[in-house]
Amino acid sequence: MNALLARPAQAPAAAQTAEQWLLAGGREVSLRPIVAADAAAEQAFFSALSLDSRHKRFHVGLRELSPGLLKLLTEVDQSQHVAWVVEALEPDHPVIADARYVHEISRPERAEFALAVADDWQGRGLGRRLIAHLAAHAGRHGVRYLYGDILADNRRMLALMRDQGARLTAHPDGAQLVRAVLDLA
Ligand SMILES: CC(C)(COP(=O)(O)OP(=O)(O)OC[C@H]1O[C@@H](n2cnc3c(N)ncnc32)[C@H](O)[C@@H]1OP(=O)(O)O)[C@@H](O)C(=O)NCCC(=O)NCCS
Repeated sequence: MNALLARPAQAPAAAQTAEQWLLAGGREVSLRPIVAADAAAEQAFFSALSLDSRHKRFHVGLRELSPGLLKLLTEVDQSQHVAWVVEALEPDHPVIADARYVHEISRPERAEFALAVADDWQGRGLGRRLIAHLAAHAGRHGVRYLYGDILADNRRMLALMRDQGARLTAHPDGAQLVRAVLDLA
């Protein structure tokens, strides 16, 4: 998670287009770059995740995002730190997923990703689509190795990464973590 906590925003968000996705079950959602004004929606999204999902995303038992972490997650430069939210096309447009990658500062061809999908929206193909989206975007923006540190008991995420062709490697911090690496070259 180090690269994901490495740097605050540096430049205005780059223009990226929004996309609409049709999910299994027929519900439509919209993917767009995160903006600073998403802070409240982002807090609501993470706070509403189950304890298990929050633990799998952050590897600690966060109850809610601290002001500093919230700022770090929402005020991104969309260049070194590239992040999206997915909104449900429903009244109030709640955020139902968050996906991001962060280039390492000294080795920008390496980037760490993270994502989370709201519990009620899991199992509809959103996670798979978000990983594919992250990999495609990162590959077009100079990333050769896109990696994520996954708790060893996060079977769904490990299966998803295996399916995407990731190498699952031992993590230097211990057996509780697995590093999944997508080679985008
Ligand atoms: C891991 C996570 C992102 C997956 O998102 P998702 O939208 O549920 O994933 P998908 O629906 O695309 O499913 C991906 C695969 O997971 C598995 N899966 C999905 N739903 C499942 C379920 N209910 N039970 C078991 N496995 C399931 C399947 O292998 C599925 O592949 P399939 O499409 O061939 O069935 C989501 O569960 C999540 O946000 N978890 C909490 C945070 C987290 O773990 N983040 C990753 C750390 S970086």
